[in-house]
Amino acid sequence: MAVPVITVDGPSGAGKGTVCLILARRLGFHYLDSGALYRALAVAAARHQVGVDNIPALAVLAAHMDVSFAMEPSDAEPLVMLEGETVTRQVRGEEAGRQASRVAAIPEVRAALLRRQRAFARAPGLVADGRDMGTVVFPDAQLKIFLTASSEERARRRHKQLIEKGETATLAELIEAVNERDERDRSREIAPLCPAADALRLDSTGQTIDEVVAAILAAAKERLAL
Ligand code: DC
Repeated sequence: MAVPVITVDGPSGAGKGTVCLILARRLGFHYLDSGALYRALAVAAARHQVGVDNIPALAVLAAHMDVSFAMEPSDAEPLVMLEGETVTRQVRGEEAGRQASRVAAIPEVRAALLRRQRAFARAPGLVADGRDMGTVVFPDAQLKIFLTASSEERARRRHKQLIEKGETATLAELIEAVNERDERDRSREIAPLCPAADALRLDSTGQTIDEVVAAILAAAKERLAL
């Protein structure tokens, strides 16, 4: 029988990461943070002095970079390891996000990462977080969610996260950055951010994480026969 897969796609700041981690822990499923793969690629490229216009080198790096994720026992985000070194903080930073959005628009990079992402679908199941999980990477997923929130709310959440990490940014800058990144992710030719035809659409604006998780778990119980 096919490994059960739940995909959660949507723009950054919609709450996908937090929601997916809770879902994966509750269900005992594996977790794929596909954005972290694109972010890790951006960090690896900077480290190896590969420019974002050097497509052949980026594709090779995407296929072969030594990246792994380790679930933390607590509620903390998983650790990201690149070439044996923990790079979690750098990978989650604003600069890696900006560069990730650029490398993610390159078809050769997406093709190279496709197989790596599919390899995460292992028993007892997978929760996959990204932009094209339900449309491209796991088109046969049993449950597809498209999670959104208003750009103001997403920027506010990002602002809170950055302040907690001791980084600085103004809300106005972040709203602009959120809108800019959305536009680039939505308008790119390959795997643009859009809901799968069979996705369940949820808007997390004004909702708590628990409410969103409960809605997805209810749908999962129905579709995955949990
Ligand atoms: O979700 P995130 O902010 O970590 O994603 C970083 C960038 O990677 C973002 O600009 C969109 C891109 N991305 C993508 O194109 N496809 C995915 N499946 C995940 C992320």
